[in-house]
Amino acid sequence: MKIMKFSAISCLLAFVVINGVMPALTIAGGLIDMGYGSRGGSMLSASIRSKEPIQPIPISFDDDRAKIELGKKLFFEPRLSKSGWISCNSCHNLSTGGADNLPSSIGHKWLFGPINSPTVLNAKFNLAQFWDGRAKDLKEQAGGPIANPMEMAATHELAVSVLQSIPEYVGWFKEVYGDEKIDIDRVTDAIAAFEETLTTPNSRFDLWLRGYDRISQSEEEGYALFKDKGCIDCHNGFGVGGNSFQKFGIVKPYDKDTQTLGRYNVTKNEKDTYVFKVPLLRNIALTAPYFHDASTWNLSEAVNVMAEYQLGITLTEDETNKIVAFLQTLTGDQPSIIFPILPPSNENTQKPNRN
Ligand code: HEC
Ligand code: HEC
Repeated sequence: MKIMKFSAISCLLAFVVINGVMPALTIAGGLIDMGYGSRGGSMLSASIRSKEPIQPIPISFDDDRAKIELGKKLFFEPRLSKSGWISCNSCHNLSTGGADNLPSSIGHKWLFGPINSPTVLNAKFNLAQFWDGRAKDLKEQAGGPIANPMEMAATHELAVSVLQSIPEYVGWFKEVYGDEKIDIDRVTDAIAAFEETLTTPNSRFDLWLRGYDRISQSEEEGYALFKDKGCIDCHNGFGVGGNSFQKFGIVKPYDKDTQTLGRYNVTKNEKDTYVFKVPLLRNIALTAPYFHDASTWNLSEAVNVMAEYQLGITLTEDETNKIVAFLQTLTGDQPSIIFPILPPSNENTQKPNRN
């Protein structure tokens, strides 16, 4: 009896310490910094909402600094494009949520691409890359835009020869890979390593998942609606999406865009027409316009379209507002990037070509 009482009291004490005192200390004085960034946090409360179908983004620790730094330079390197002007960051701007906020991206010769650019933030949580999932991972993906005539319009050989002409790059590749060889495999490997670091932990929602009361009543109700109405069936996990392919227009055929066939491009299977990778809803407040065809700039409208086409329901205005309020809690700490300084070209470097 005595022992039970004792453990009950210590449980209670632990509870108070975990939920009351610890966060207070972290927030107030920054005394206990467990690595959850400026918004405070404590590992002790990690399991409180651990059964939820959405998981907080793990805090990652960079293990290969030199490779990540090289990848960062390449991500910002406009000379990987034929025009010498377009970098990955042109269309996946890390100042604006890792996307370009355009209906479709502007590429080589001011050409407009056929599809909205998804964010690179948290892309590592996608089961495959691109709307139709045609690249199996970040490394395979990164080779695509460099050689895409409507995007960076270089060839892999051209991009590699530009890097080979610059002694600083040769040195960095040697430092990372052990010898001076530069090829597209290493280029994309380094870019992917940098992209792996582009996660956005510590959103208010993640802090709530970790046990802190950081979301409001209506945001919490929005999350409950998100689960009860069935959004969660497709948008779940670390990325709140990104882990399955689903038809756009399950209940009602989607008729606004009949050009983009989606997953059919990969499988050539009729039933994969209009099937897309479920997008991540992390940082969704930053990445308008929405949908692969950018058919709306308005998040409320996007939510209503989903309700109508995917679930066959009509949400009340109050329900939509609450779901949107919940979605806005998914904006996390944006990667803090020190803008890389790139080495100059020299007489051996291929000149930019805008044709
Ligand atoms: C001209 C604009 C443009 C440039 C430059 C560009 N991208 Fe993209 N990116 C896009 C578009 C558009 C898509 C979607 C294409 C699709 O799904 O068919 C995309 C898709 C992606 C994806 C997949 C994300 C997801 O959720 O599926 C990643 C990752 C990515 N790009 C990284 C890069 C990297 C790395 C570079 C530089 C080597 C780069 N991009 C250059 C426009 C661009
Ligand atoms: C059956 C699976 C499924 C369900 C259920 C579902 N979605 Fe989606 N969601 C998708 C797919 C697939 C897309 C991509 C559609 C496209 O652009 O081709 C998407 C796109 C979105 C987008 C736009 C993302 C972007 O980056 O453009 C938002 C916002 C969204 N869903 C929210 C919701 C909400 C809120 C609900 C519940 C009312 C919901 N979804 C229910 C599969 C689903």
